[in-house]
Amino acid sequence: MTRYLITSALPYINGMKHLGNLVGSMLPADVYARFLRLEGEEVLFICATDEHGTPAEIAALEEGLDVKTYCDIQHQRQKDVYMRFGLSFDYFGRSSSPQNHELTQHFYRMLDKHGFIEERGIQQIYSLDDERFLPDRYVIGTCPKCGYDRARGDQCESCASLLNPSELVEPRSAVSGSRNLELRTSKHLFLKLDTLSSEIENWVKSNTHWPKLTYSVAMKWLNEGLQPRCITRDLSWGVPVPREGYENKVFYVWFDAPIEYVGATKEWADQDPANRDWRSWWYDAGDVYYAQFMAKDNLPFHTIVWPATILGTREPWTMADYIKGFNWLNYYGGKFSTSQGRGVFMDDALDILPPDYWRYFLMSIAPETDDSDFTWDLFASVVNKDLAGTLGNFVNRTLKLVASRLGTTIPEGGRWGEHEDKLLAQCKESIEEYRTALRNFEFRKAALALKKLWTHGNVYIDARAPWNLLKDDPAEAALVLRTCINLIRTYAIASSPLIPFTSEALFDALGMTAWERKAGLDDALDLTALEGGRPFEVPPILFRRLDPDEVETHRKRFAGVEG
Ligand code: 2FM
Ligand code: ZN
Repeated sequence: MTRYLITSALPYINGMKHLGNLVGSMLPADVYARFLRLEGEEVLFICATDEHGTPAEIAALEEGLDVKTYCDIQHQRQKDVYMRFGLSFDYFGRSSSPQNHELTQHFYRMLDKHGFIEERGIQQIYSLDDERFLPDRYVIGTCPKCGYDRARGDQCESCASLLNPSELVEPRSAVSGSRNLELRTSKHLFLKLDTLSSEIENWVKSNTHWPKLTYSVAMKWLNEGLQPRCITRDLSWGVPVPREGYENKVFYVWFDAPIEYVGATKEWADQDPANRDWRSWWYDAGDVYYAQFMAKDNLPFHTIVWPATILGTREPWTMADYIKGFNWLNYYGGKFSTSQGRGVFMDDALDILPPDYWRYFLMSIAPETDDSDFTWDLFASVVNKDLAGTLGNFVNRTLKLVASRLGTTIPEGGRWGEHEDKLLAQCKESIEEYRTALRNFEFRKAALALKKLWTHGNVYIDARAPWNLLKDDPAEAALVLRTCINLIRTYAIASSPLIPFTSEALFDALGMTAWERKAGLDDALDLTALEGGRPFEVPPILFRRLDPDEVETHRKRFAGVEG
């Protein structure tokens, strides 16, 4: 039987992530993992903080902490907020772990052994005032491709081009702002992507089933021609390079970051070695289907550089079967920006509303085929219509009606008829749509199918009007209400990948046992599972509506300095 390995791009250690980061990697990965578990599949869902490189060093510097202490604090902070969002990682590791250090050095040694590493002397920017080299983000300047004036030395945030620090126009030090810079020669190691080019191309071309975005980014890179890429840096924080003359250098963060997918799995296994086997997932793992999730700026690394790293080891490491790339989630047409306080960050989001509001909304607008746009009006309208108006309303009106008219036990009596047949057929169709969408990594479609499933309940209860039947035909009323309560069970099971906390609240309200909560999507379609006579509770309001004043308050608060 196939086992599913799922990784989400590893969030950089520096700073709280925003809703754009969440929707483009960790959340869809979580929904996919939860869906597969619901289908009874064996899943290993791995993520970690990406702790090396200049972002961590610069952030630590700004906070006056040593990098290790900074990372310890930030790792915990991120981990907490991910748990609160219900991200169900089997393990959330750290790229600074000894496991990753060891594996990174192993990958390097194998690449070197097979002739895919070369040494070159390169000109690096040296800051006379800071008395150090300034790799990657230590230099800021104007992007030579798009003119953005705060481009970083490694990548332009605005046009996503990958850069070398020396390409920046009017460079300055990110440490001191100094422009007193000069080029000095320093020895570095390069991964020979050019030599591996045709192997990478063959691999990419064997994956035409990838999403268009993923495939086109990979082909664009290949068509431009692959150049050797520098995999070392003049820094002290990172994985040491096991080679003479490299005592003051470390590997580039993008060399060791994807290796941490494996590293984190080893961290997971090392916690319970008798029962967990990391190698069986990563090495010669014929029965593993591996799906990766990331935003589009990460695609070149995952379609070209990381596969090249694997291919060059000449070892059978697991390569991705599917790479789900996402476009950007914008905030009122512009970027989410940490520095300008623009947009909603994950911790702020949870201070405003519980996780399921965000989870459902974000999946319903997932930037899959194009960028999508966050606005508070859209958020309020989705919450009010879908969550409060459709799902919440159905649960509430059903359980309240039964409780007030018949008491808090599921009513007995009545005979299943053609109305119920019709309801079942509709639910079946929607669940099939939902399942197909999720199997195909189509998250917007999945959210839409789920919403459709929720509407069947309201249509059924309106058509059957049990409030009238209670007077005229109590047995028929019992059948309708019992069916509605069973539909709540259906919703609780089927909705759990997107809104897991609400599912639990519904299971609680229905008094379902731990065993009953394990039901899968097929069992969800049993609309007679909960028999008459069982007690239930009326839960507190599931979703509250957002009114225009509140929307306006949030819009102002998160508009950022320029908004
Ligand atoms: O872009 C980012 O946020 C990177 N930290 C992603 C790394 S993904 C993986 F390769 F580790
Ligand atoms: Zn640019």
